[in-house]
Amino acid sequence: MSTINYSEKIPNNVNLGEDRTLQRALEGWQPNFINWWDDVGPEGSTNHDVYLRTAVSVDPQGWAQFGHVKMRDYRWGIFLNPGDANREIHFGDHKGEKAWQDVPGEHRANLRRIIVTQGDTEPASVEQQRHLGLTAPSMYDLRNLFQINVEEGRHLWAMVYLLQKHFGRDGREEADALLQRTSGDENNPRILGAFNERTPDWLAFFMFTYFTDRDGKFQLSALAESAFDPLARTTKFMLTEEAHHMFVGESGVSRVIARTAQVMNELKTDDAQKIRAAGCIDLGTIQRYLNFHYSVTIDLFGADQSSNAAIFYSSGLKGRYEEGKRTDDHILKGQTYKVLEVKDGQLVEKDVPMLNALNEVLRDDFIKDSVAGVGRWNKVLEKAGIPTRLVVPHKAFNRQIGALAGIKMSPEGRVVNEVEWAAKRDEWLPSSEDFAFVASLMGRVVEPGKFAGWISPPVMGINRQPVDFEYVRFG
Ligand SMILES: [Fe+2]
Ligand SMILES: [Fe+2]
Repeated sequence: MSTINYSEKIPNNVNLGEDRTLQRALEGWQPNFINWWDDVGPEGSTNHDVYLRTAVSVDPQGWAQFGHVKMRDYRWGIFLNPGDANREIHFGDHKGEKAWQDVPGEHRANLRRIIVTQGDTEPASVEQQRHLGLTAPSMYDLRNLFQINVEEGRHLWAMVYLLQKHFGRDGREEADALLQRTSGDENNPRILGAFNERTPDWLAFFMFTYFTDRDGKFQLSALAESAFDPLARTTKFMLTEEAHHMFVGESGVSRVIARTAQVMNELKTDDAQKIRAAGCIDLGTIQRYLNFHYSVTIDLFGADQSSNAAIFYSSGLKGRYEEGKRTDDHILKGQTYKVLEVKDGQLVEKDVPMLNALNEVLRDDFIKDSVAGVGRWNKVLEKAGIPTRLVVPHKAFNRQIGALAGIKMSPEGRVVNEVEWAAKRDEWLPSSEDFAFVASLMGRVVEPGKFAGWISPPVMGINRQPVDFEYVRFG
């Protein structure tokens, strides 16, 4: 028998203390979650006291508490943004009807699938990042890694809450399965491709949190519009935490670039070998990592034409990014959108029904947002007086999903043949030699205020603490 007082142990605003069925379901699941954390969560971290923020309410003025905690004892809270009893569905065929507090029978299977697919990404990224603590470039970065890991754990709790609360026995089975699939496992992998890739080093981690956590932002934003009100309110709150994950990625890559630029100026060279010999990551390698993470991440939005996307929208399950700010009819019947295909060896645009192209619409919104941050990285180079610029590759580059899957394309968007692809692949995507070089830089630096030689210190610390604060106390 569990003796945990769940309403105390799990900070929540969902009246957990009053729902016995839900408590029983969570009591069954919680020990499995802890086992999962011990087995495939952050390696060797059990005794660390980590300076973490914990969500304790949804008040925008003060939703988080900071303090040193052991991650195993993190209080994985369950929070829904405040509800509006009069909220109306604002897109699709049910537009103008009252938002649902329970799952309508006819949408049950699709909603379950949407929640499971989102939920599956959360533990997957923890698994992908589990070795990184052993090679952290600083104590500050180690703390940020762990912050992201515990919050992805909390996001898993958020999805499990919805499954256990609203989907009965099926939901409980799905909640169990979320702890059984494993990133990269041959027999029982995570659901989506990018979540089965390795995150072998810290440059990959920063690219992942910049690009792939941003996919999270767009998916969560689309779900925050949902007619199923508990899903909308849950995902809105998750977005609050997601901002920090993307910050870690953007500032992380930015600090790598800043350090490289500094060494390029000191040595007065843009020669990759000389930069590497000085212990920094050359801009070519950074560009190849960018190409990889960007292309793998835009695949996450799914096929460019999808009848499921149309069904999810029309039935009110999943909206568009910032649906409420758009000025069209929010029904989209009879409207069209441009998608790409290859015809006679050339990329061409074609108009397709917009409802079927909603994955592409979300992908294009993501692309706009991603490009903005790459522009901020380029500012670092500009300030340092270095003429090289980073660019996102063409949207058809290295795609595995949709009409562009399997087409060989240069980063600039030129269709190439197999021979050229084979010859240029290692200029366009990280080679095994690139990975080996970056891996060779990954040593553990964890004295407060010290940083590995390939990355600049951050401008400021976390929660107004100094950069050399003791963010992690090793037990
Ligand atoms: Fe997440
Ligand atoms: Fe995240």
